[in-house]
Order: sequence, then structure tokens, then C-alpha cells
Amino acid sequence: MNSKLIYPFSLAKRMYSGVGNKVQAQKYVLTKYFQGEPKRTDFQIVKEELPELKEGEILAEAEYLSVDPYMRAYMIGYKLPADMIGGQVAKIIASRNKKYDVGKYVTGSFGWRTHTIVNPDGNQTGMLPITLLPDLGSYPVSLALGVLGMPGNTAYFGLKEICQPKPGETIVITGAAGAVGSHVGQIGKSLGCRVVGFAGTDDKCQYLEKELGFDRAFNYKTVNIRAALKEGCPKKVDCYFDNVGGEISSTIMNYMNKYGRVAVCGSISSYNDVNVPKVSILQPAIVFKELKVEGFLVNRWTDRWDEGINANLNWLREGKLKYQEKVYHGFENMVDALVGMLRGENTGKAVVKVK
Ligand SMILES: NC(=O)c1ccc[n+]([C@@H]2O[C@H](COP(=O)([O-])OP(=O)(O)OC[C@H]3O[C@@H](n4cnc5c(N)ncnc54)[C@H](OP(=O)(O)O)[C@@H]3O)[C@@H](O)[C@H]2O)c1
Repeated sequence: MNSKLIYPFSLAKRMYSGVGNKVQAQKYVLTKYFQGEPKRTDFQIVKEELPELKEGEILAEAEYLSVDPYMRAYMIGYKLPADMIGGQVAKIIASRNKKYDVGKYVTGSFGWRTHTIVNPDGNQTGMLPITLLPDLGSYPVSLALGVLGMPGNTAYFGLKEICQPKPGETIVITGAAGAVGSHVGQIGKSLGCRVVGFAGTDDKCQYLEKELGFDRAFNYKTVNIRAALKEGCPKKVDCYFDNVGGEISSTIMNYMNKYGRVAVCGSISSYNDVNVPKVSILQPAIVFKELKVEGFLVNRWTDRWDEGINANLNWLREGKLKYQEKVYHGFENMVDALVGMLRGENTGKAVVKVK
């Protein structure tokens, strides 16, 4: 595929246009490493003429693009200029693959781009396996980026496999009102646990308690964390699902029971930091409480991907899993959406409706 930089971000107007039989895609290329919050000027939008489809390939048009915290953290590992990474839900608009009919939807790690040619049977790379969406009935296809996609599977496998909670135990979740955290809490309740969350606004905490059935939720920006733990976790903490890292995680891990389990999912509290933060030492708590602390990446369970999706779909249909989405609009607003999510504008999953 040939691509060349043709115009800066602000001039990006058209989504795509057909040229003869060929399709022109647009994609985001990162040209400057992030410093602090991502900026529009860190990117250029590039137009790319796509070739004819080969046997086995499909042409997919993005309908929803995902903005996720890992995008802020991962790009440092890429040589610039680099195509921006990310998951999307796309509609198949042309196909030379009998298993992938025109009109169906796929998810894949296609990046921030409007159109993609891919052979779904070929080697798969990226966070998200290329998956043909099952019929979601009246549910929006965007859920394939949230409760029925990568964050949903992060919650499902991270909690069940790493924390291994037992009924009656207490689970604490940070980043509790986000895509992964709000889902973890609901699975925890289904498993018969006490669930306590920390989130960044009083409204989010109300939502967690009143709508999602969390036993307690605290605004980490306004409470004393140790006092909140004492109030919310009378039997202390058995499982900690860590989405944020930093000092709050040290405080929680010091409040755990012997043989507690910590699923280290992410550390969003530091993703925009220029300097690496220092936190209170954790090793004494880990040693004396004999904690099991395990980091994980959700693609560890790629071979069990459908198990997680189907379990979450069943919970959704049974009314045991609720969701919210923060929907941003317009391909040209991808960076604002990414920054908005990092700032905490979202409750539940942040997605961008492409047009
Ligand atoms: N290991 C894996 O395979 C895997 C997969 C997916 C996600 N993750 C990780 O899971 C975590 C949550 O991801 P997500 O997709 O569900 O995102 P999310 O929670 O939907 O969105 C990010 C949230 O982070 C919170 N936040 C921002 N700055 C913060 C800070 N300084 N301290 C505490 N919270 C802060 C904001 O909520 P507030 O208003 O509450 O601050 C914001 O809404 C991230 O760390 C991500 O990297 C890991």
C-alpha cells in the first residue's frame, strides 16, 4: 500500500471518496511522540488509495472507532511516523471471502482509519482478533468495542482468572466507572462478592451504587482513601482489580487480607505523566500478607476469546450486565475523544461514531 502525507489535520474534510473502482481511505499517522496529553498537532491525516481486493480479502468501512488508555501508553514503542493503533467495528462493503458477507460487521485492530482491506484468515496482529460479529439484535454494534469486546474480555478473564474471587469475598476496583472497571464490578456481584469501587466524580459513584449494584463507591478525588476502605470494606480486601496504579494502589494493597490477589490491569494515573511517579513501597505488604500480584494482557486469552464474548452477551441478555457509552462524533474528532477519555469524561466505554 502506498501512502503519502497530503494535508495537515485541520484540512481534513472528506471521509473518503471512490476513485473508479478504488477506494480512498483516511488514516491518522502519529508524527510526534506525545508529551503530556495527546494533541491534534501530534498527528497528520493521510489519504491512502486502496488496491483491488485479492482472493480471501474483505474491504471494511469503519463505523465506530475505539479510544482506549493503552493508545496513550503504547505509541512510545513505535518508530515515527507510525499509523495510529486501535480497534474498530467496521461494515464489510466488499468481499472476496465466502465466510465474510457484504453487510456483516467485523471488529479488528485496524487502527484509526476509515477503510481497511484485510484477509481475516491471515496472520492476526494487534490487541483485537478479527471477529465476525454475531447478530446483536437491538444492541448497537459499538458494544463490540466495549462490553462485547476487548474491555469486556479484560474484565471477564482478568477477574475470573487472576483474582479468582470466591462468594463472600471483597473486591476493590479502581477506575471503577470506566469500561473495564464497571464491568468487573458487575461480574463480581454476579459471583456473590462485596464490590467497592473508586471513581473520579460523585455522579459516577452514584451510578455505580444505584444502577450497577456496587455495595459502595467513593470519589477518589475527595475522600481519604484509607478511611473509605475502612468504611467500605469491613472485612478488608481479598481481591484488588487495579486499573490506575500509583499511591491509591499502594494504600489498597496495604489494606488487603492474607493471600489476597491483585490483578494489575493498567496504571492510567501515570499515562500522561512526563516524569515517572514515585509511590510508597509495596514489598512489605506483598511479603507479610503473602499477596499474589499478577499483571496481565487480555490477549493472553485470544484462544478463548469467544468464551468471554458469549458469557458477556448472555449476562447482557439476562439483564445482569448494564452498560453506558460515551459516544463522540466524527473521524476528525478522534484526538478530542482520546483526551476526553483520559480526562475521565466517560462513564462506561468511550467510542467515536465515524460519521
Ligand atoms: N491489561 C489489559 O489487557 C488491559 C485491557 C484494557 C484496558 N486496560 C487498562 O485498564 C484500565 C481501564 O481501561 P478502560 O478502557 O476501562 O478505560 P476507562 O476506565 O473507560 O477510561 C479511563 C478512565 O480512567 C480514569 N482516570 C483518568 N486519569 C486517572 C487518574 N489519574 N487516576 C485514576 N483514574 C484516572 C478516568 O475516570 P475517573 O473519572 O474515574 O478518573 C477515565 O474515565 C487502563 O489502565 C487500561 O490501560 C488493560
